[in-house]
Amino acid sequence: MYNIRKITEDLFLVGANDRRLSLFEGVYPVPIGVSYNSYLLLDEKTVLLDTADKAVHHQFMENVIKALNGRNLDYLIINHMEPDHCAEIPSLLKKFPNVKLVCNTKIQTMLKQFFDFEIAEDQIILVKEGDTLNTGRHNLTFVFAPMVHWPEVMVTYDTTDKILFSADAFGTFGAIDGNIYADEVDFDHRYMDEARRYYTNIVGKYGPQVQALLKKASGLDIKMICPLHGFIWRKDLDKYIDKYMKWSTYTPEIQSVLIPYASVYGGTQNAAEILGAKLAELGVKDIKICDTSVTDASYIIADAFKYSHIVFASTTYNNGIFVSMENLLHDIVAHNLQNRKIAIIENGSWAPVSGKLMTDLVSQLKNVEIIGNKVSLKSTLKENQIEELEALAKAIVDTMSL
Ligand code: FEO
Repeated sequence: MYNIRKITEDLFLVGANDRRLSLFEGVYPVPIGVSYNSYLLLDEKTVLLDTADKAVHHQFMENVIKALNGRNLDYLIINHMEPDHCAEIPSLLKKFPNVKLVCNTKIQTMLKQFFDFEIAEDQIILVKEGDTLNTGRHNLTFVFAPMVHWPEVMVTYDTTDKILFSADAFGTFGAIDGNIYADEVDFDHRYMDEARRYYTNIVGKYGPQVQALLKKASGLDIKMICPLHGFIWRKDLDKYIDKYMKWSTYTPEIQSVLIPYASVYGGTQNAAEILGAKLAELGVKDIKICDTSVTDASYIIADAFKYSHIVFASTTYNNGIFVSMENLLHDIVAHNLQNRKIAIIENGSWAPVSGKLMTDLVSQLKNVEIIGNKVSLKSTLKENQIEELEALAKAIVDTMSL
């Protein structure tokens, strides 16, 4: 049965949730699901903004057809060609063969890459930055947002109702549980962590490009943001935009310490736990310790964007870094984390090398300062090394603004 949500007099949410997907993009766990948002504008012309993932085919098509209420579909605006939003284009073309596809040249190229169907040249309306499509009462302007999150991405701004259709930007993991507006849920407690995990893992690498979009958006009078995942924003936009400013400039949200550790038999974990205790005794709040073999890397990456200080603690394994820590560090480097203070604890029962190797990896990050002396364990922490951990805790706290 259709499930359509009215946003304004002539704008409807026609997307759907996937609550059974285990790994978004084949890599990110989504334990509270994900929504694929699609928006239908019923003006003098009818306009669909993006489609949906193939996993929600039936719900999506049923919604679109019902919401159109017998009208034809005049335009499909394609803001993003990732298949979680474009997979239903073939179904839509089958149902509405005369629909005009509104897109840019990069999207046109990707249409040919992803699909084999023939599209007549006159069925495509190519737009450039700043072009406007009039649909009757509404004027829709196209703003290019390359690398947020793919190169072809654009966002659409409805100058009539001041609505920004923001593609992946301002989205979050998490299905929509009835409430479609961020101000109708306890966003900070229920969804902010998932929003951060979504942003940092999906577009975290492209901070400067997100900054470019934020700069363009700052010139627009925006009353509502309609992203392709998660909730619609109509209140407290500044609060969420401020988060995006922090994340895209790699600015820590809190002065505190994240301690990801990799431990085979508990020796390294023990040092991480004692360091956490020493930091707490020095007044550090909200310390977070996590086992890289247990906590999925996407959660640790999100926290790495949140915390000002990170202590990486790993045993040596196969003359290298323990595999779950090594993968995490490569992931962090790939996500372009910057502006952090980092400390290192290593372990190795006969030839500890993980400290040097971890230092080499994190040294690739921009504006990273290695603080304190590396603590090097041989199998387990010894009584006379407690002082080393205390010194490390003090060196960390000395660089914090508590
Ligand atoms: Fe939600 Fe980049 O696709």
